[in-house]
Amino acid sequence: PRVGILISGSGSNMVALLEAMRDGRVAGTPAIVVSNNPDAAGLAKAHALGVATAAIDHRPFKGDRAAFDAEVDRALREAGTDVVACAGFMRIMTDDMIGRWTGRMVNIHPSVLPLFKGLHTHQRALDEGMAVHGCTVHEVTPELDTGTILGQAVVPVRPGDTAGTLAARVLRQEHRLYPRCLDAFLRDPEAARREKIAILADEE
Ligand code: GRF
Repeated sequence: PRVGILISGSGSNMVALLEAMRDGRVAGTPAIVVSNNPDAAGLAKAHALGVATAAIDHRPFKGDRAAFDAEVDRALREAGTDVVACAGFMRIMTDDMIGRWTGRMVNIHPSVLPLFKGLHTHQRALDEGMAVHGCTVHEVTPELDTGTILGQAVVPVRPGDTAGTLAARVLRQEHRLYPRCLDAFLRDPEAARREKIAILADEE
């Protein structure tokens, strides 16, 4: 299957997915990388990896989310995308857009869902005094950060952790978790929804 990847920033999860596809650890081929941010560092990384890119700046659409989504959808379809992987994509998509990719769109969220949906998840985990934190790969549904969980990784929270140190520990696991979840999902979505992947990382 051809995988389209949506990014907004550094694209470290995108790189993990592209390298995994290149190395045969994810049973898919890159279709296109689309960013809503023309300055996203991930665009250059995708280009360096030989993957087609499209920068569709959301700002000219001035809140007309449907029009922006239609452009993103067009870029994905014209690249022959079968499955969409959101990787640090920071735009809320319309229900209509999500509906067009139901069962074919996944996302990675930096918390152990359903805890800490939304933003600033690492600081919120620290504020709550969590002993563990982590990340979740899930199917995208119209309700934010909900949808069938495909896998999760858990890390310890360490004394003296800041949002930055905790985010870095979680991000390292994101790069392990996402390729494994996407591979399972591409190979057999129903099995992937049943046999969820759990990574328990007791790292420093
Ligand atoms: C990561 O924390 C990811 O969980 C979230 O966006 C952040 C940046 O990801 N979705 P990336 O480096 O752009 O892949």
